[in-house]
Amino acid sequence: MRFSQRMNLFKPSATLALNDRVLELRSEGVEIANLVVGDPDFNTPEFIKDAAKRALDENRTHYTPVPGGLELREAVLRYFKRVYGLEAAVENVAVSTGGKQALFNVLMCVVDPGDEVIIPVPYWTSYPDMAALAGAVPVFAPSPASRGFRITPEDLERVRTPRSRALMLNSPSNPTGVTYTAEEMEAILEWARRHEIFVISDEVYDQLVYPPAGQASACHWWKRHPESVAVVNALSKSFAMTGWRMGYTLAHADLIRQCMKVQSQVTSNPCSITQAAAAAALEGDFSEMRAMREAFMRRRDMAYAEISTWEGVICPCPEGAFYLFPDVSALYSEKMPDDTACCRYLLDEARVALMPGSAFGDSRCVRFSYSVADEVLESALHRVKKALYA
Ligand SMILES: Cc1ncc(COP(=O)(O)O)c(C=O)c1O
Repeated sequence: MRFSQRMNLFKPSATLALNDRVLELRSEGVEIANLVVGDPDFNTPEFIKDAAKRALDENRTHYTPVPGGLELREAVLRYFKRVYGLEAAVENVAVSTGGKQALFNVLMCVVDPGDEVIIPVPYWTSYPDMAALAGAVPVFAPSPASRGFRITPEDLERVRTPRSRALMLNSPSNPTGVTYTAEEMEAILEWARRHEIFVISDEVYDQLVYPPAGQASACHWWKRHPESVAVVNALSKSFAMTGWRMGYTLAHADLIRQCMKVQSQVTSNPCSITQAAAAAALEGDFSEMRAMREAFMRRRDMAYAEISTWEGVICPCPEGAFYLFPDVSALYSEKMPDDTACCRYLLDEARVALMPGSAFGDSRCVRFSYSVADEVLESALHRVKKALYA
């Protein structure tokens, strides 16, 4: 069969492909600790599910406006006010089918074919493919583990060209957990504004930041420079709602309108029942969310304490999200010459599934997701250590 040339520009999601392999092994009866996928092991809180059940009983099963019903868009605005003290108008927000769609909408609206999108490395695995799908050229700005994976304006300046049009910024970061301070964010945003580079600030882990670190949202910058940044967030990670598919964008009203032009031709509104659940989540009591954050922080502490004793391994301490991204390249050998071989070896020997770092642009590393029960994580870490130093 003949396919469009566009299909050669991008790959399917690497995380989902590896997860499929784990599910296959499990179906054959092999017990695997799955530290691959970024999906909280907690159930969605009951009060959120109740709101969805009520929406069904009330037959809220029809189309809603493309950017989401007013109830949810106002809930998004109140979330920004409650968490960040930010005042915005309903025209500045729209909801989408997951953070993914929100990011893709923005990219489609700001880049022209041949424009360059600067992507700090390590990056969330979908950014380069999304940029390519929008017709742009991904350009990579490295920040190695030895420097704590923190990108600076100097790193970005090194890759800037007259075609640089957008920058993907992700704090807290998947895969590194790096969480920028307000000063670091400002410096990056100011650099981008000076060079007329539009910033897409992906903040889908904004509630999963571990004290003493705090979330420095680009929404404050947006308030001052509304034409220079879009803030994308989602309920997937912070509220344990991955399967519900709900994300949202805060941006200049003109950009929101353009994003909705794309969305109206692709999916229309996100699921009406999910919208009711999302409004309840954003307006509700955050105590269950805080309890999840505490559990993630406890696992982060445990896993970081363990990995940082591994000889030859460099692992900056993550301050957010639920991943560790150690540089294990000093352990590469004939039996595991690179990150993919290392992950295959660990799957066979330790029965632990990890993501190869090359899926995030850094083949020196592997990614551990700690969105699994404490005892699964603890036992997996011991097995990985044993296999790595065998
Ligand atoms: C950094 C980052 N951005 C965006 C997303 C997409 O979120 P969603 O599942 O809401 O589409 C993910 C999901 O893994 C992510 O890790």
